[in-house]
Amino acid sequence: MIHRPRINRWTESRRNLIHDPSIKSSLVQPYFVVDGVNIREEIQGMPKIYRESLDNLLDTVKSDYEAGIRAIMLFGVVSEDLKDDYANQAMNELSHLHKAVFELKKIYNDDLVIMTDVCLCTATAHGHCGIVANGEIENDESVEILAKIALSHAKAGADYVCASDMMDGRIISIRKTLEASGFSSTGILAYSVKYASSFYGPFRNAASSSPKTGDRKSHQMDIRSGYKEAIFESKLDQEEGADIIMIKPGLPYLDVVKTVSDEVEKPVAVYNVSGEYAMVMNSAIDLSQRKSMVIEILNSFKRSGADIIVTYHAREALAQGWIK
Ligand code: PBG
Repeated sequence: MIHRPRINRWTESRRNLIHDPSIKSSLVQPYFVVDGVNIREEIQGMPKIYRESLDNLLDTVKSDYEAGIRAIMLFGVVSEDLKDDYANQAMNELSHLHKAVFELKKIYNDDLVIMTDVCLCTATAHGHCGIVANGEIENDESVEILAKIALSHAKAGADYVCASDMMDGRIISIRKTLEASGFSSTGILAYSVKYASSFYGPFRNAASSSPKTGDRKSHQMDIRSGYKEAIFESKLDQEEGADIIMIKPGLPYLDVVKTVSDEVEKPVAVYNVSGEYAMVMNSAIDLSQRKSMVIEILNSFKRSGADIIVTYHAREALAQGWIK
């Protein structure tokens, strides 16, 4: 089956994430997981966000959970020596990322929605989101690998696999692969409308995923493109079986969030990306001013129609009691 509307209803935590109208229930906190032990380094340009090994990640998730976080998004950071041309480490079921998903699922079971990033860029030596041949990113070969990565995350216990690559046809391929292996309750979050934005800088440092040469403009959307392409991409992913449609970045594209959320039937997510977070955190303001800014930003996402908000502000907003 391509469409399984039950996926978004599968657990109470998924239902709350999607349908509870409060901002608090809409938040998803991202994490960067590295291999090793006792590692916890703050990311350059992103105060209070860390690259962490599994032992520390478990502590961080625990304190976030206690503050009220009920949905998380995990990014696996791959060490340089394990990168290759085909992103093999990204589908290695024994990797630290897979272990993290497995351990968190064991601890929280269905009380926490676990999302994982599915892309090649963190595990390819050249840093591109796909297989490169003759200087071009090969679409269909890349899609095959993406589906394998997604399946490996599903096996580890992910609630939603999140395709952030922007290759054509990857959602249907991931859906068919999950179906063929019996993963009929694993959701797919599609980064349907993802722009070739200059707001991803701090993330690429954090995930060590910058392309060594060139850029991502042959697959991520042109920043000048209009609503028609955004609607087209969203509907395509919806037809291919996506369970959640995401727009990224957030603040520069609130109009797109509004337009897409008016057009699609599936729940809509917005990604308040690293550069947006850095702008707020690195402006010279005190905590009470930051509180006001974060509340204002989160409300803007809700007003524009986002059901789900992926944001690095989630941790602080809940820990400080800014959002109730
Ligand atoms: C991987 C990916 C990126 C982000 C999420 N997944 C980087 C990129 O596309 O270059 C960016 C997230 C952020 O900036 O917070 N493809």
